[in-house]
Amino acid sequence: MAKIGMDLNRFILEEERKHKSASGSFSLALTAIESASKIVSAKVSKAGLSNILGAADEVNISGDDVQKLDVLANNLMIQHLSDSGQFCAMASEELEEAIFPEKGKDGRYVIAFDPLDGSSNINVNVSIGTIFSIHKRVNGTADDLMQQGRKQVAAGYVIYGSSTMLVYTTGNGVNGFTLDPSVGMYLLSHPDMKVPEKGKIYSINEAYANKWDDKLVAYIKGYKDKGYSLRYIGSMVSDVHRTLIKGGVFAYPADKKNPDGKLRYLYEASPMAFIIENAGGASSTGAEDTLDVKPEELHQRVPVFLGSKIDVEEMVKALK
Ligand code: AHG
Ligand code: MN
Ligand code: MN
Repeated sequence: MAKIGMDLNRFILEEERKHKSASGSFSLALTAIESASKIVSAKVSKAGLSNILGAADEVNISGDDVQKLDVLANNLMIQHLSDSGQFCAMASEELEEAIFPEKGKDGRYVIAFDPLDGSSNINVNVSIGTIFSIHKRVNGTADDLMQQGRKQVAAGYVIYGSSTMLVYTTGNGVNGFTLDPSVGMYLLSHPDMKVPEKGKIYSINEAYANKWDDKLVAYIKGYKDKGYSLRYIGSMVSDVHRTLIKGGVFAYPADKKNPDGKLRYLYEASPMAFIIENAGGASSTGAEDTLDVKPEELHQRVPVFLGSKIDVEEMVKALK
């Protein structure tokens, strides 16, 4: 296991050395995300001081109000990912269609990202984040973004909270790096993260209970009878990060109004499921493992039930 305190760049290079055929391309891809996230982190920590708070009076493809920090984070991600030359196609929550950066036309990868997750929490100083999902290029078209989550080559998130952390996996274990702003480096703080196989926390927006399926209403009541705690922050990155560390279940189910739930597959459900499964947890849409979904649309939504393996399996079984 890598040593606590190791910096992210050294860690990425050491990982690269484990793959004889590695060309360094993947390392360049990850460091582009690292650079963009450091700038977003600096902007987020000062958001209250500049006029980037407040709605950018735009609405994105999913109908969410776009906050100015969303736009800034989106532009920063696009700029750094394009400049890296490693991505032939990109999808963002903030862009209706995929984009194909000129510099990345020979790039070996495609990426989908949520530049700022938890937008509704920006101006109340609650943790928000960036989520990313990387797949291999197949034929260099937007179809390359529509791959099953199980085929991801990497997935991760950055959480801009009491400290900024970058958590990611390349399919063999999950590692968390905390940003030391005094030196501007991410340092390994959470090696080989594992989801507890059972927890005592459930995370779901109970305001929608009137629109839930009766089985879900009954199941959530069962949590209350068993003395589970409810924790719901309203930023997926924060709710998933807590679930990864403390265990339990995070759920954003379908309901009578939203038959596919709210969370988008490419840049929310799929990357988070890849992380949780690589940390020993489980993730399901209720009908199938999240990572087995074959997406058909860029901003496709899926129901999400993820977290501790035992809790998720019991819940999904009870809801069938
Ligand atoms: P985003 O800010 O990127 O649009 O994502 C918001 C999502 C997700 O972060 C969170 O889990 C969910 O919205 C909360 O939705 P509700 O407010 O309906 O609970
Ligand atoms: Mn989001
Ligand atoms: Mn977002």
